[in-house]
Amino acid sequence: MSTVIAERPRELFTEAPSSLGILLRKIRRRQARVGVIGLGYVGLPLAVEFARAGFPVTGFDLDRQRAEQTNSGSSYIGDVNDQILWQQIESGRFHATSNFAELSDLDTVSICVPTPLRKTKDPDLSYVIQAVESVAEHLHRGQLIILESTTYPGTTEEIALPRLERSFLKVGEDFFLAFSPERVDPGNARFQTRNIPKVVGGITRRCTLAARALYAACVERVVKVSSARTAEMVKLLENTYRNVNIGLAKEMALLCHKFNVDVWEVIEAASSKPFGFMPFYPGPGLGGHCIPIDPAYLTWKARANGFEPRLIELAQQINSAMPAHVVDCITRALNERGKPLRGSKVHLLGVAYKRDVADVRESPALDVMHLLAERKAQLSYTDPYVPWLSEPGIELHSEPITALSQKYCAVIVTDHSCVDYREILRAALLIVDTRNSLRGFREEKIFRL
Ligand SMILES: NC(=O)c1ccc[n+]([C@@H]2O[C@H](COP(=O)([O-])OP(=O)(O)OC[C@H]3O[C@@H](n4cnc5c(N)ncnc54)[C@H](O)[C@@H]3O)[C@@H](O)[C@H]2O)c1
Repeated sequence: MSTVIAERPRELFTEAPSSLGILLRKIRRRQARVGVIGLGYVGLPLAVEFARAGFPVTGFDLDRQRAEQTNSGSSYIGDVNDQILWQQIESGRFHATSNFAELSDLDTVSICVPTPLRKTKDPDLSYVIQAVESVAEHLHRGQLIILESTTYPGTTEEIALPRLERSFLKVGEDFFLAFSPERVDPGNARFQTRNIPKVVGGITRRCTLAARALYAACVERVVKVSSARTAEMVKLLENTYRNVNIGLAKEMALLCHKFNVDVWEVIEAASSKPFGFMPFYPGPGLGGHCIPIDPAYLTWKARANGFEPRLIELAQQINSAMPAHVVDCITRALNERGKPLRGSKVHLLGVAYKRDVADVRESPALDVMHLLAERKAQLSYTDPYVPWLSEPGIELHSEPITALSQKYCAVIVTDHSCVDYREILRAALLIVDTRNSLRGFREEKIFRL
């Protein structure tokens, strides 16, 4: 693996202008017409970054409303600010559309569509397949296609390539195909699309060169790997690493509870070791479109290849048991006050899957709510980022924080940084804190995981 910072592949400028030579020249001159399919948490920031780098950019989304809202300069993604979006729209460098015929005009296309799981927990590649089919319909000589959606090793080669090669164009010569995992961390003000290194791996060496040249034009550092399959595996290692370590932190939390030791204090002290230790924290469970889902892509593919990934499975089991543990904590806390869970007013603080985002996909708060509803607790919540929740079996509006005084138990599920935790401490009768937001406070009404 080598690390490259906006390096020019020298040999390509000495040969007669091939499809690759022409594409690289267009990229260098910022004349390449760049496309992004899927304008969500990943695609919209990426499209804006391409436009800021000087490329003419077309964003595609099946959701017409999203395309229209983007064109009006109003961002629905927290990490993309309206002003920056509007600058790119107004300058004419960026526009969004649901008209896939515009793919014909483009030199590069980055695919950033969802990769969820089916009910059976198997990978659902239907969005990727649909996007690749749209690209295949308009594929032309000299085009570079990059898959960014997180998926199992082999997807680019086994799912995208055969569909694109139906055109009789040859990969690596007539068109270029690569995988480059998206690593964006919504809500992270320090690391955003531009300063998160981008890993690229192509189907052929020329595909890698083309993808590397494109991203080197708009992100600070590009890391080249030997194949698309390797790049796919890199992303799954990163997210599985988090999943397994969070599982370990959660198991430590359960153990510490047995030993009457504060797990948060243990992690904080262990973090003082300057090497060989990286802190991961327990919490109410895993959420979002990545950490709970991506390892399932890996385990599915592992099994299809006759390999049983035991450690990853175990971490998944520990993580998915956490919402039930939170409900046990709530039940115990109420019990100590002589109250049954049934009929008690339980108020969740934060329902987004993590701090400072509005995303509730796979949020552990939803599992906690379902379990509480099954046990007939009276549910309510406050989340400044999520004004209402409409889930099967849950239809609720966020209540003002002042409502807390009328509830019996407050449960801190998501630790948004705009919340005044002292006020919560004052207003609540009983608090279950799954995030250690009330560190330093020793009041008897606080129960920790
Ligand atoms: N959200 C994250 O933090 C994050 C981080 C890294 C990687 N990823 C990965 O990136 C991919 C995209 O995730 P996301 O969170 O941006 O999803 P998202 O749901 O926020 O956005 C996806 C967008 O794609 C659109 N779409 C779906 N199918 C389409 C099609 N065929 N053509 C055009 N538009 C289509 C949807 O309407 C939606 O607007 C996933 O594979 C995810 O695992 C996500």
